[in-house]
Amino acid sequence: MRHLTDPTDITRKETDDIVALALDIIANREKYSEVCKGKKLATLFYEPSTRTRLSFTAAMMELGGNVLGFSDANSSSVSKGETVEDTVRVVGNFVDIIAMRHHIEGAPLDASMVSRVPIINAGDGAHAHPTQTLTDLLTITRELGHLDNLTIGFCGDLLYGRTVHSLIKALSRYEGTKIVLIAPDSLRLPDYIKHDVCEKNGIEYREVSTLEEVMGELDILYMTRVQQERFSDKAEYERVKDCYILDAAKMALAKEKMAVLHPLPRVNEITKEVDADPRAAYFRQVENGKFVRKALIYTLLKWAEEGKESLHNHEAVEVEGLVCPNKKCICNNEPVDYKFQLAEGGVYRCLYCSTKAEEK
Ligand code: NCD
Repeated sequence: MRHLTDPTDITRKETDDIVALALDIIANREKYSEVCKGKKLATLFYEPSTRTRLSFTAAMMELGGNVLGFSDANSSSVSKGETVEDTVRVVGNFVDIIAMRHHIEGAPLDASMVSRVPIINAGDGAHAHPTQTLTDLLTITRELGHLDNLTIGFCGDLLYGRTVHSLIKALSRYEGTKIVLIAPDSLRLPDYIKHDVCEKNGIEYREVSTLEEVMGELDILYMTRVQQERFSDKAEYERVKDCYILDAAKMALAKEKMAVLHPLPRVNEITKEVDADPRAAYFRQVENGKFVRKALIYTLLKWAEEGKESLHNHEAVEVEGLVCPNKKCICNNEPVDYKFQLAEGGVYRCLYCSTKAEEK
């Protein structure tokens, strides 16, 4: 069965088809208003969310389907100690598709391994956020008209920003992508994205320290919030939280045809004066999220009916003496065995969260 726990769960062609379907949905809303009649979506949100959950809900409603679920895990059996696997086994009896957000990394992948219905990862810890990626791809397509030959600047929290990790994975499959990373030292992009995604796919990337030095070459500026909730050291958060602020003066250095994206919520990293700039695409991006989720739900339900198989068989190995050191990974929080995949440079990485394995 097909799930979407990571952008690479679908091919580049399937990704383009979902974006194209979203464009058709935008142009012909009526045509899709009953295509999911009689179908149910469960939104299982173990972590706070406004736009992602509401966007999934609105998407399913506009397809003529129904939605149930929880937005506070404390009000569900999770508070009694139920595992993700059991919750998903149970909920799969009631619905046709599940969207899950979890603070534990790898929870949606673990869920997908036991689920009888498609699982959509709506964000797992600092790891991945593939439906935001589809939103971003649709937004770039609508703003600039193409996904090839783009220079994209990622600014802010590149360490914990799951939207950044997933979008880089997706963009590494397009021709001529160039990536510029703008982040404080303590919030740099994780090594596995640099090596296993950028270098492996021959994607040019460089790290710079100011926005000013690169503004003029960017087609897309992807701003992010410093992810306060993921810091164990609050003093470090205070030190870096306002490291990069996009304002009108910096926008004046940018190309005339470019777009500023932000997954939202914004804190201080974009001043309000930028909102009026026609290149500020972040509020249009929100609506795109609903359209692309409509396209995704419809597609995954169709694939489930057709019995379309997963692209991966998650060929993983258990290696004697190796553990995943990430305290926020599912394998360190629930009864899930350590599993690893052999990655670039001969290193073993956790199947669930991509962290480099360590000796016990
Ligand atoms: C993002 C997320 O949850 O990762 N928000 C979203 O889904 N729109 C970004 C963030 O929280 O900063």
